[in-house]
Amino acid sequence: MTDLYKIEFLLPSAESSGPMELVLEPFAAVVTCFETPGSDTWRLEAYCTELPPYDLVEKAISDGARIAGIPAPEFVAGPVPQIDWVSENQKSFTPIRAGRFFVYPSHFDGKVPAGSLSICMDAGMAFGTGEHGTTKGCLLMIEAVLKRRRVATALDLGCGTGILAIATALASKATQLTASDIDPDAVAVSIENCRINRLQTRVRPVVSDGLDRRELNRPGAYDLVIANILAGPLQRLAPGIARVVAPGGDVILSGLLEDQETAVLAAYRRQGLYLRGRKRLDGWSTLLLSRKA
Ligand SMILES: C[S@@+](CC[C@H](N)C(=O)[O-])C[C@H]1O[C@@H](n2cnc3c(N)ncnc32)[C@H](O)[C@@H]1O
Repeated sequence: MTDLYKIEFLLPSAESSGPMELVLEPFAAVVTCFETPGSDTWRLEAYCTELPPYDLVEKAISDGARIAGIPAPEFVAGPVPQIDWVSENQKSFTPIRAGRFFVYPSHFDGKVPAGSLSICMDAGMAFGTGEHGTTKGCLLMIEAVLKRRRVATALDLGCGTGILAIATALASKATQLTASDIDPDAVAVSIENCRINRLQTRVRPVVSDGLDRRELNRPGAYDLVIANILAGPLQRLAPGIARVVAPGGDVILSGLLEDQETAVLAAYRRQGLYLRGRKRLDGWSTLLLSRKA
């Protein structure tokens, strides 16, 4: 994390901040000034990447005060306490329910609801904690597919945290999964999440741009393909995804906005798939398509 320093002091009016901002400009990357609640004063905060010498700051503030016509204010200067945003994000993530799936962070100390399929997942460097409408839509769709049919092999393309592969493995003990992502960091996160959820023998996370990795690209290899990417990549991947899904197999697509459904659907219909269902959540659409048997 980059070191950050702050110079701060109080001002009697908003107008006096102008000259102060000017004199602090040589030191500060950002200067903010806001009214302090319940008083007539304004707080000026100047953020610097290096702490300037005390006497230079003192002189600048005294010059600024003279221009503004106010007494030179007392100031404090020092390092800004470092915030670990990843762990802050982790603390703010609370459990999520989507159908039978219950996704909870490792710091959760409550009770997992009886009968749920629980997934331990910390928010971090990869996408997919279940909060987002696209992930939630996919979780609900996975549940619907597995209620209807047996799935022996599945591919989670664009796995992020691995949440969808993990959910599929939990919901169907019969399924062997491959999880892939273009981002090696996401794949590393997926490997760790599979270990935490004790699924390392059933889910195999690998790095691949789309279906470029040869082992993913076997015709008819998967009973189920799940891809929560974006409308553009989904359309480009349509011929590849249609090829790797088995006859009679299913494809869950998400990451598209409601008004992008028509274009994405058209790309998959051209490959012989048909629409079986759709879920819309928070403006995002999740589609379930099937390949004719
Ligand atoms: C919206 S996130 C989905 C994460 C998770 N599957 C979920 O549903 O929450 C999309 C993921 O797709 C990955 N991705 C984007 N383009 C890709 C591509 N061409 N091939 C593989 N993965 C890709 C991104 O790195 C990201 O992790």
